[in-house]
This record gives sequence, structure tokens and C-alpha cells, in this order.
Amino acid sequence: MKIGFSAPAMPRAGAIVAGVLEGGELSPMAERLDKATSGALSRAIGASRFDGKKNQTLTVIAPAGAKASRIVLLGLGRGDGFDELAAQAAGGTVVATLAQTGDKAAAVAIDAVKGSKLSASEAAAHVAYGALLRGYRFDKYRTKEKAEDKPSLATLTVATRDATAARKAYAPLAKIADGVFLTRDLVSEPANVIFPASLADQAKALAKLGVKVQVLDKRQMERLGMGALLGVAQGSANEPRVVAMRWDGAPRAREKRPVAFVGKGVTFDTGGISIKPSGGMEDMKWDMGGSGVVIGLMKALAGRKAKVNAVGVVGLVENMPSSTAQRPGDVVTSMSGQTVEVINTDAEGRLVLGDALWWCQDKFKPHTVIDLATLTGAIIISLGHVQAGLFANDDELSDWLTAAGKAVGEPVWRMPLGDDYDKQINSDIADMKNVGGREGGSITAAQFLKRYIKEGVRWAHLDIAGVTWSKKDTPTVPKGGTAFGVRLLDRLVADRYEGK
Ligand code: BES
Ligand code: MN
Ligand code: ZN
Repeated sequence: MKIGFSAPAMPRAGAIVAGVLEGGELSPMAERLDKATSGALSRAIGASRFDGKKNQTLTVIAPAGAKASRIVLLGLGRGDGFDELAAQAAGGTVVATLAQTGDKAAAVAIDAVKGSKLSASEAAAHVAYGALLRGYRFDKYRTKEKAEDKPSLATLTVATRDATAARKAYAPLAKIADGVFLTRDLVSEPANVIFPASLADQAKALAKLGVKVQVLDKRQMERLGMGALLGVAQGSANEPRVVAMRWDGAPRAREKRPVAFVGKGVTFDTGGISIKPSGGMEDMKWDMGGSGVVIGLMKALAGRKAKVNAVGVVGLVENMPSSTAQRPGDVVTSMSGQTVEVINTDAEGRLVLGDALWWCQDKFKPHTVIDLATLTGAIIISLGHVQAGLFANDDELSDWLTAAGKAVGEPVWRMPLGDDYDKQINSDIADMKNVGGREGGSITAAQFLKRYIKEGVRWAHLDIAGVTWSKKDTPTVPKGGTAFGVRLLDRLVADRYEGK
């Protein structure tokens, strides 16, 4: 789908979308269309339950007096609530509504919403962004889909008074969407296509955007002493990788130390010898979701040339049962020197992250580290599929992440940390064990990670197990891989680390 901007004009073909405020007040374009069609739109509203509530639509087909195939009235909700997210949702709803009509082209005219704080061009840019995000589809393996089942919409034009300003506001948003789409692709790919080496290749491809990419292979990891990560990897014929991606976009004069993002990249999690039940195990292809977000985020930051020094590190392994797999009870030594008793081989993400976090801090000396991981089923019990779990050793960082999440519609909820939870992972024979019992399972997992954070480093952990994959559509996120975290962390960088 091609998305563009133009000055407002009465379209001569395709679908026209015009906004209606809650309560039924027509936008200027809807008003013009109503006049041109001798009141067909007001009559249609009168004969329906449509009253302009957020994301409601009412379609009038081939109305006499307009050259369009159909006019879609789009509910905008209350004008004073029409913010960036509402504009994005409106754009997404347009795409969902027109996906199956057969229209190849559509023009959307809903700018300058009365009562909204958004300027007309900002509103137009965010409508376009929402449409772009919703238009994503992972369909490369559908070879037999009938043409009439495929989305037909090829061009979407957002009409706005200042198309140049809208284009300018849209440009960085489209770059963020590029990152989101890369993440969604990586998360959607099956584990026979995305395994550690092939996922590392995907990260390497960011070099053409100016990202410096370094890949560690198994031998290099052995030399570094990454025994925790290697213990997880040893059961698989697919060898592990650790990848670092550096984007140095900050002006020279500013703080050199980077902010770091670290992702869990278990390209398939069978559970290992502590094997998972077979029902639903296919979901574990997206156990690399954290690393997918880090790779997509680096693409977004480089794509929009963010004025920040950022590093992304991903630990990539496949967790398999085999004669070479690690056993429950094995003791491994991590790069930090700390030893771990592996009680349950299915609590592998923390083992991978322990070494990835340590190496990241050792090598890049970041002032702040934020990790993302589909770490625990327990976070789904706590927060469902709505919010990600947030753990942090710093209140300000926690507040910043919470605000960024709210702003982009990727909400996070802070969970506690504390010594009494930490005690749960003490081991009788090693420095720690990798599980702390069922109670507070997401918290003890976070306590485990905290043991790999160096003194003085600001740290946050996002447990994204509940939000990485969605079984239903929302206005800007079609079901499937969500890329939850890319927009959130891009926003965090924009708001807090670009030094405006
Ligand atoms: N990858 C899983 C967590 C997960 C579960 C992600 C469901 C997405 C959906 C993780 O490696 C895991 O298996 N965690 C165990 C930990 C337990 C053994 C302490 C869990 O949550 O059951
Ligand atoms: Mn597991
Ligand atoms: Zn896992």
C-alpha cells in the first residue's frame, strides 16, 4: 500500500473517508459530501446507530452526486480526545474497513479536528502512520490465496491543507514503521527459517543503514566464558550467536556512553530436557521476540537518524533436548564468574540474558541497560495480554518507560523487586539457581537478571511474554507478531536521550 498526502479536493474515484465527531457533527469534508449528495449522508446517519464514536464506521455505497465508489464516515470520538493515538487508530480503522471492499484507492479527509490539540498536519501524519501500521501482513507463505481475498487497497491519500508539513511529520514515523515491520517479520518467521545464524544475518543487514554490527560465534563465546548461554545452546545442532549493533548518532560534544538494549533471542524454546507439553509449543517460535524488538529498534533509530548513541545486543540460541543437551542439576559458570545451578532447563532465557547483559556492560560501558524478553508465563497470569511487566532499579527510568508506553499505546506496568524475592533463587551448591518456585515467578526471573547488572548502571527489564504475539486485531496492530517495544523504546530515546 502506497501512502501519500495531497491538498483537499473532491476525489473522482475510489473511496472517500470523512470524519464525524462524537454526537454526529460532520467534519468540513463530510459536510461538503453531504451537500453534494443531497443529504444522503445525514439520512444514512439518521437511519443507523452510527454517532461518530471512536472507530465506528458507516459506509454509503455509490451515492448519487459523488464520483466515489463509496463514502466511509469515520467516527473520531470527542474532538478533545483526538490525540496521536486516536489519529493512528482512525487511520488503522480506515485500512481495516477498506481491506475487503475491493477499492484500489481511497482518500481520507479528517484533518483539523475541532477541539483537538493536534495540528492538521500532525493529525494527517498520524492517520497515515496508523494506516501504514495496520496495513502490515505476513503472507509470504500463502501461495494459494485468491485475489479476491487479498487486500485490494493500493493507494491511500491523506488530504490535508499543508501536505508538505504532513509529509515532513510523517517521514520519521515511516522509519519507525520500517523497524516495526522488520520485528513483526522476524517474530512471524518459523524456527526452521529463523535460527541463531540466520537471525544474526538479519541483524548484519542493518550495516547498510550505518549500524556497526559485530557477531560472536561459539568459539569466541567460549573464550569469553559465556557458560550460561552456551549451556542452553549445547543441545542444538544450530550454533549460538551473540550480536552487537551500534548506532552512534549523538553529536560529538555530548555523552559518549551509550544506552543499551538487550534482547532474549531463543529462536525456538522446546524447554530442553525439562520439555514443554506439545500443545501450543509452536508458539515458542516467537521466543526470540525480545531480540526481534532490539533489531527492529536499531533499524528505526538508524532509519530516522536518531541523535543518540545506542547499542543493541542479542543473545541467540535454540533450546533443544538431545544427548548433548544440559541436564537439570548441571552447574554452569557465567561470564560474570557467578555459577548457576540449572534446576529447570526451560528457564533458559535468564541464562542467555545473564551472559548477554554482562558482555554488553563489559564491552560498551552503557549508562543505562534495558532488556526485553519473553521471559515468563507468569507475567501473562499477572498482566494478561494487555501490558508488559516492567522491573527497574531506578524510579526515574521506570517513570520514563511508563510515560513512553502510554504515549505510543504500548503500556507497561511496574512490578516489584526486593531482597525477599532475591533469596528465592539462592542455591545450596552454586551462587544461584535458575528458578525460584512458582510464586512470583516473573519477579524471581527479574531478580536473576538483576544479579548480572553492574553497580551504578541504570537498568530496566521488560517481560513481554504476554504482548509479543496477539490473537486478535487492534486498530494499528493486526493479529500476529506485534513488535511491542519498538515504538515504546523509540519514543523513550526520542523523549529522553536525544538531548533536545
Ligand atoms: N519462553 C518461556 C516463557 C513464555 C511462556 C513465553 C509462554 C511466552 C509464552 C520461558 O523460557 C519459560 O519457559 N519460562 C518458564 C519458567 C519456569 C520454568 C520457571 C515458565 O514461564 O513456565
Ligand atoms: Mn523456556
Ligand atoms: Zn523461553
